[in-house]
Amino acid sequence: MSKARTAVLISGRGSNMMALVEAARAPEYPAEIVCVVSSRADAGGLDFAAANGIATRAISHKDYATREAYDSAIDVYLRSMKVEAIALAGFMRVLSADFVAGWDGRILNIHPSLLPAYKGLHTHERAIADGARIAGCSVHLVTPELDGGPVLLQAEVPVLPADTPGTLAARVLRQEHRIYPQALAWLANRIIEDRE
Ligand code: GAR
Repeated sequence: MSKARTAVLISGRGSNMMALVEAARAPEYPAEIVCVVSSRADAGGLDFAAANGIATRAISHKDYATREAYDSAIDVYLRSMKVEAIALAGFMRVLSADFVAGWDGRILNIHPSLLPAYKGLHTHERAIADGARIAGCSVHLVTPELDGGPVLLQAEVPVLPADTPGTLAARVLRQEHRIYPQALAWLANRIIEDRE
């Protein structure tokens, strides 16, 4: 059975992308990472992807006049790669409703909070400022509402008294790397079943 052809979209370091690439090395894993797209040409993750034989493409919003034109350029590339599933992994651009509709139910995102708490940016700063005792991360299906789609998997971590946003982010990130491959496997299996 062929694997679900998956694109990972990044904007920076790409550690979640690396976790997905590592998981996809397992022969029985249902997704194959066929390309990595970055919104920034200097994203550290691009070198890792290229070194692992994965097609890479930097597509900068600065080269496009509108969000729709930018998203359309990404869409054209992904379709040229015969992509079936998209994993957003630290991709810091909001995708337009048209783009999301074109990939309905096939886009995942990882977010560093226990959604629906702390949508948006600076999640760890806000959790610490609020005195939260528990933080975590969520993988959800992407809908037009920012960080608002159905949650598939979450992992919790404690917030410790001495935590800074950086120490808390590192603890959460270890859980991101654990749950994102599990969630992508779920979506990939669903896509493979839909093909039959
Ligand atoms: C991750 O913590 C991810 O959850 C977060 O950015 C980081 C990217 O790290 N995503 C968001 O904040 C999305 N709004 P990575 O590039 O090492 O995977």
